[in-house]
Amino acid sequence: MAIKFERVSFQYRGIDEKGYLALADINLSIAAKGEFITLIGETGSGKSTLAQHMNALLTPTEGRVHVFGVKLTSDKKKNRRQRLNPIRQRVGLVFQFPEYQLFEETVLKDIIFGPKNFGVGQDEAVERAKKMIKVVGLDESYLERSPFNLSGGEKKRVSIAGILAMEPEILILDEPTSGLDPMGRNALLEVFHNIHEQLGKTVVIITHDMNTVYEYAKRVLVLREGALVYDGDPSGLFSRKHVEDWNLELPEILRIQRALEERFGIKLDKSPRSRKELIEALGEVVG
Ligand SMILES: Nc1ncnc2c1ncn2[C@@H]1O[C@H](COP(=O)(O)OP(=O)(O)O)[C@@H](O)[C@H]1O
Ligand SMILES: [Mg+2]
Repeated sequence: MAIKFERVSFQYRGIDEKGYLALADINLSIAAKGEFITLIGETGSGKSTLAQHMNALLTPTEGRVHVFGVKLTSDKKKNRRQRLNPIRQRVGLVFQFPEYQLFEETVLKDIIFGPKNFGVGQDEAVERAKKMIKVVGLDESYLERSPFNLSGGEKKRVSIAGILAMEPEILILDEPTSGLDPMGRNALLEVFHNIHEQLGKTVVIITHDMNTVYEYAKRVLVLREGALVYDGDPSGLFSRKHVEDWNLELPEILRIQRALEERFGIKLDKSPRSRKELIEALGEVVG
């Protein structure tokens, strides 16, 4: 396993002595290839904290995290003695707030910062920047602009391009589509989907959007108050019990499918995950 959590807890040190328990006793394994995972949970449930443990930006206060063979514990000295840089390149994390990642005077400099930091030469880094700015749906003219004059959605895309340019093996995206319009959101999700499908990379997306969970994820993780309460496939997640207990919103496709059943007695043979699949499944029933 590329990433393995063993009984991981994490406490933020607060102003008072007690601190705040953000992760509680988490066990979790993530493979280096072939996974498409969504991580969901209410605001404050620990999603960003969990993501930052996956590339050793944070290290546990209890338990162990293994990332590509490096073992991280509460022993800060031991953690520092290990080579953490390679981990940060191999597990790319796009922050929830792009401002954390953008600080250079041009978009180009921001995108090449990561790859150059990990030993990629200037020319190759610039080539990657030109490629990745297009991958995230912007054109080359953006490379000379200041990241500070971009819209929220554009900043987000630039920060994603910067991580893609490091060519990580595992890609973790903390709410990558929040604040984007539906078109931009779908386009970016297709980008992540292609990275997963064509390159076989493991992708982990933190999201509040149940449609994303249902259409794209092969596996869903649910955090509640720092505890991992669900680790399984998306269809199991939307069983009546979980939906009620965890106050989940149903994905659009599932809502339509259930309405078809209850109101018109139309039972689909398949479980469609997208609008396209829903229309195909309906077509088969209608004949
Ligand atoms: N730097 C910090 N210091 C103290 N508490 C923090 C810090 N960052 C986050 N927290 C707290 O830890 C909990 C989990 O935060 P976070 O991982 O950001 O949740 P999520 O990403 O699910 O919204 C929250 O209650 C939050 O207030
Ligand atoms: Mg967060």
